[in-house]
Amino acid sequence: MSNEDRTAPVETKRVTTRTIREMKKRGQKVTMITAYDFTFARLFDDAGADMLLVGDSLSNVIQGNETTIPVTLDEMIYHARLVVRGAREHAMVICDMPFMSYQVNAEEGFRNAGRIMKETGAGAVKVEGGERVANLVRMMSEAGIPVMGHLGLTPQSIHQFGTYATRGKSHDEAERIKSDALALQEAGAFSVVLEKVPAALAREVTDSLRISTIGIGAGVHCDGQVLVMHDMLGLTEEFHPRFVRHYASLAVTVRKAVGQYDSDVKSGAFPNEGESY
Ligand code: KIV
Repeated sequence: MSNEDRTAPVETKRVTTRTIREMKKRGQKVTMITAYDFTFARLFDDAGADMLLVGDSLSNVIQGNETTIPVTLDEMIYHARLVVRGAREHAMVICDMPFMSYQVNAEEGFRNAGRIMKETGAGAVKVEGGERVANLVRMMSEAGIPVMGHLGLTPQSIHQFGTYATRGKSHDEAERIKSDALALQEAGAFSVVLEKVPAALAREVTDSLRISTIGIGAGVHCDGQVLVMHDMLGLTEEFHPRFVRHYASLAVTVRKAVGQYDSDVKSGAFPNEGESY
């Protein structure tokens, strides 16, 4: 076998940045969902999700923090490793770079992205920001680290925004989002999340880019969609933004199941003879 044969890309079912590029060309929508552990990653992979995002939303839904600010790089790496183990067949795993793992300077961000790739087996990293992080995105892309951007409502800047309201409603902010999206594309990002921006703006950005837009609260014209698993599965009952569709009511199911277990244990109905040795 020649060296060329040995390095030729092997056709597998695994989604890669190339798959995502091809899907945009064919007008095929991309499905992304967050995942934070092995069991759910395996289920989502089986179900056919294209990308699993180990989002820094784990700070909220796993750790119980109010914002995404506290989660650390080591914690992200730990969870990304579990998700990679679960994504056995199909999905590409993307790991968020948490707050302050890339804001100090591009060199530090570059090194931390390298840690994520080496220690987790993820296929890409995600960073918030546009022009501001373009230099870092370029360094990562040139080193072979696929990068997903994140524009619009960027939760790591929540203390600067002061609100989780829709972004890009003013002319100036919409123009900024458009130019940031182009800056990410030029720097080598393979995709960009658009969070909570008007659908018309998301459409304009999507049409202007060769790379894929993945929307959350950004309307139907994005190249793909992402939802936080706890929201779409109905585990976070107190969170009701209009962009979340509940595909299940797992909080109700779990409470009912555990309530029944509790009463069976207390009444002596569990375990029965067949459940004993
Ligand atoms: O952290 C996260 O879950 C995210 C998605 C909301 C895109 O960044």
